[in-house]
Amino acid sequence: IMPEETTSRPHIVTCTAPVNIAVVKYWGKRDEDLILPISSSLSVTLHQDQLKTTTTVAISTSFKVDRMWLNGKEEDITHPRLQSCLREIRRLARKRRNDGEPDSTESTGLSHKVHICSVNNFPTAAGLASSAAGFACLVYSLAQAFGVEGDLSGIARQGSGSACRSMYGGFVQWIMGNRDDGKDSIAQQVEPESHWPELRILVLVASAKRKPIGSTSGMQTSVQTSVLLKHRAESVVPHRMDKMIKAVQKRDFAAFAEITMKDSNQFHATCLDTYPPIFYLNSVSQQIIHLVHRYNGHYRESRVAYSFDAGPNAVIFTLQQHVPEFVRVVQHFFPPDTNGEDFIKGLPVKGAAISEELKEAIGLEPTPNGINYIISTKAGPGPCIIEDSSQHLLSPDGFPK
Ligand code: DP6
Repeated sequence: IMPEETTSRPHIVTCTAPVNIAVVKYWGKRDEDLILPISSSLSVTLHQDQLKTTTTVAISTSFKVDRMWLNGKEEDITHPRLQSCLREIRRLARKRRNDGEPDSTESTGLSHKVHICSVNNFPTAAGLASSAAGFACLVYSLAQAFGVEGDLSGIARQGSGSACRSMYGGFVQWIMGNRDDGKDSIAQQVEPESHWPELRILVLVASAKRKPIGSTSGMQTSVQTSVLLKHRAESVVPHRMDKMIKAVQKRDFAAFAEITMKDSNQFHATCLDTYPPIFYLNSVSQQIIHLVHRYNGHYRESRVAYSFDAGPNAVIFTLQQHVPEFVRVVQHFFPPDTNGEDFIKGLPVKGAAISEELKEAIGLEPTPNGINYIISTKAGPGPCIIEDSSQHLLSPDGFPK
């Protein structure tokens, strides 16, 4: 039994977690509640210096109910996916204690209520998938608070499928598994972020404001209506996963680029094959696709690759040496209102000149303000614990600061 003083004071932890971008896409579930996919997928974890979620969890006997605040606003904690994550972490903590693990302050708080506060360091308006980083961060922080260890990707998966891949850094595969209870549907690191230091990622934030149809309901309709999606899951993705893992292991950019683009295109083809069809790409996305192929064609080599998720933002993969020129090309064909400095955020990009020959080879009509800005980043690590208590998003009493 702990002294009253200690137990009534909230136990507080703060963690951060990354965004990830799939290069072999997840689309379609075989179980909606457990969030089990119809195929495996593979992603690159983005660096948290540019994009991250920060979450503080406080546990205390003095809290009456579980509560949660997201980007400054109180959210409904009864959301089923949130409840799944909370329940699973508490279940693991209980199991750990029953298994006779040494008792700690953390596991004493098993029956205690939690306060959760979470923020993103990027605007939600940017339309970047924040649910992956959000659920990864929630699960990682809860695990820290309750003293739970081991693979937590199976729990993050129950918050949002793609979140399981944000539990690791570098290059990560989500193995679909085949058990009905989902115990074998987990994420694994293929290679750490240090494996391919030259790889760079550019997020081209589109200017579109209209909110496209969400992934959850979109993929539901696809599973119900698209025979192409069934074919993809059964006959395309297994082979593509093997090829992609080999390309990553060998740092073979040409192979990596080809699979990345083909897989993004097939994902959007399954969206068009969905009935009624789903459109995530807009005219700017299509122009970027043309631009990339013409750029690569000009050099007779795959120097850049594109990938699009459930929205019009383009994610570009390339090698460090090609970043300055490619960014200039994007800036030329999508001239921004703002000056060049505001246009590029994140890792600094050196200036470069582009030849008339290259402009001609690409031959697009410039689209002013087609792209809002570019976030320049690279592969990064998985979730982290923040030791500095001044970074907590909840004050010592466990309420938002
Ligand atoms: C197109 O993980 O957001 O980004 O499991 O229903 O929460 P739920 O869906 P979500 O789907 C992501 C789909 C995607 C591709 C990917 O990230 O693999």
